[in-house]
Amino acid sequence: MRNTAKIIDLKKVLDARGNLSIIEECSDIPFKIERVHWIYDVPGGESRGGHAYRNTEEFIIALSGSFDILLDSGDGKKQRFYLNRSYMGLYVPKMVWREMDNFSTNAIAMVISSTLYDLDDYIRNYELFTKEASK
Ligand code: TYD
Repeated sequence: MRNTAKIIDLKKVLDARGNLSIIEECSDIPFKIERVHWIYDVPGGESRGGHAYRNTEEFIIALSGSFDILLDSGDGKKQRFYLNRSYMGLYVPKMVWREMDNFSTNAIAMVISSTLYDLDDYIRNYELFTKEASK
C-alpha cells in the first residue's frame, strides 16, 4: 500500500506523567527515515507546500495544534485531511501534489521524509506535475 495516502495511528503509551508516541522506520511508517523537518510560527492564513516530489515519501504529524493537508494525485482525485493529534499522521506517497493550510495558532507540523533534501526532486509547476503523473 505504498502508493496510497493514508492516516496512520501511532503507538501511544498512556501515562499519568504524560503520554508518549513512537515512530520506528519501516514498521510504523512504510519507509526508511532520511530526514526530518518541522514547520512552525506559521502566520494566520498562510499556506505551505504547493508542490510534489518525484521520489520522496513523507509522513506528516501535527505535533501541536492543527492544520489541513490537501492531496491531489493528478488524476482528478483530491483529498483533504485534518490533522490535530500528535499520535497520528498522514503518509504521503511520492508523486502527490500537496498543499497545507488552515494552520492553528502554535501549530507544529513535523515532516519525516524518505530522502535527503534534493531540489531536483521537487515539481513546483502543477501542469508539469499532471503531465509527469499521467506517464
Ligand atoms: P519547501 O519544501 O518548499 O517548504 P513547504 O513545502 O513547507 O512550503 O521548502 C522551503 C524552503 O526550505 C526552500 O527554500 C528549501 C528549504 N528546505 C531545505 O533547505 N531543506 C529541507 O529539507 C526542506 C524541506 C526545505
